[in-house]
Amino acid sequence: MTVTYCAPKEESHPCVYLPHVPVWCMRQAGRYLTEFREFRAGKDFFETCQSPEACCELTLQPLRRFGFDAAIIFSDILVIPQALGMDVQMVAGKGPTFPEPLKEPEDLQRLTAKVDVGKELGYVFKAITLTRHKIEGKVPLIGFSGAPWTLMSYMIEGGGSNTHSKAKRWLYRHPEASHMLLTMLTDVIVEYLLGQVAAGAQALQVFESHAGILGPVHFNEYSLPYLRDIARRVKDELKEAGQDVPMIVFAKDAHYAVEDLSQSHYDVVGLDWTIDPQSARERTGGKVSLQGNMDPCALYAPKERISDIVKKMLEGFGTRGYIANLGHGVYPDMDPENVGAFVEAVHQHSKQMIKKI
Ligand code: CP3
Repeated sequence: MTVTYCAPKEESHPCVYLPHVPVWCMRQAGRYLTEFREFRAGKDFFETCQSPEACCELTLQPLRRFGFDAAIIFSDILVIPQALGMDVQMVAGKGPTFPEPLKEPEDLQRLTAKVDVGKELGYVFKAITLTRHKIEGKVPLIGFSGAPWTLMSYMIEGGGSNTHSKAKRWLYRHPEASHMLLTMLTDVIVEYLLGQVAAGAQALQVFESHAGILGPVHFNEYSLPYLRDIARRVKDELKEAGQDVPMIVFAKDAHYAVEDLSQSHYDVVGLDWTIDPQSARERTGGKVSLQGNMDPCALYAPKERISDIVKKMLEGFGTRGYIANLGHGVYPDMDPENVGAFVEAVHQHSKQMIKKI
């Protein structure tokens, strides 16, 4: 299924001038919102992901409440293992669960060798097109994908894990099969991201959420080359069509890799809170824009304190080449008012800083 977005004439260009630093939050559509919980009640998670209307509604909910400067399409990174033929369920209180994870290299034969991305994931493309229309050009719409290593680790672990020992066992014991799986995933991800752009996504974020468990040596072998390949192939393909789309890489807990990530064809490097803004700037040398990185738990602080923390973060990053965000997603027990206070603080402090320049 090909889904193509055609911008209406009246839609403004997404790269409009903003008088403040742009801000959005990972998991801005989530259980911390009462309207999200009400809408999701009694519905299966992945069935919700498969309904373009539901995804559109959930994507728009946080925009109705807060002054976010971007929307991220409601979906999940685990739709790719599903497209490869794996069963994935979202179990309440437990999280994502694969009843039959990959155990040994022979299990790779269970995966669909040539995925028809349009057929298997066309519902995400439809959700993006519908949502892009509904946003009416007010803010850009971000599409996303999980990165190969993060998806591989879920497919082998069968769910969340502290040690990721089953997946890391493959890296030590089955390096060839690991590269095979990562390559398979990369091919699907590239097509999936290109499909999202054709459907109307105006920026793309690649989530390497399990980067931290790798360490620098394995990161350089099993994550970075694939992250690079994804950005290069997506960018090259778009360039041929005279297009470009900003790409963000978020490799959680991979602070050792920020220099490399800043030279990996991405336009923006997303940062978790374990790295100091100023040192991230120094280490990336102004080559890329940065995104992040307030500790999500700072949202438990009183509003005035949130404002002070935001001010310091803005001073560390500066207002140019910077997108404010949290260092990871909003948690379900967070007070929506504090999320609003975070957004307001970014706008207010950055406006003042920009005026002084
Ligand atoms: O608002 C947004 O950020 C857009 C939607 C989005 C979701 N998942 C919706 C979701 C995005 C970008 C993701 C990405 C995702 N999914 C990642 C990468 C980001 C990260 O957190 O590091 C990962 C690792 C997943 C896998 C996944 N899906 C997990 C670990 C969970 C949480 C399970 C739990 O019970 O806490 C999910 C479920 C999920 N995905 C929820 C949401 C809003 C919560 C469950 C629900 O709505 O019922």
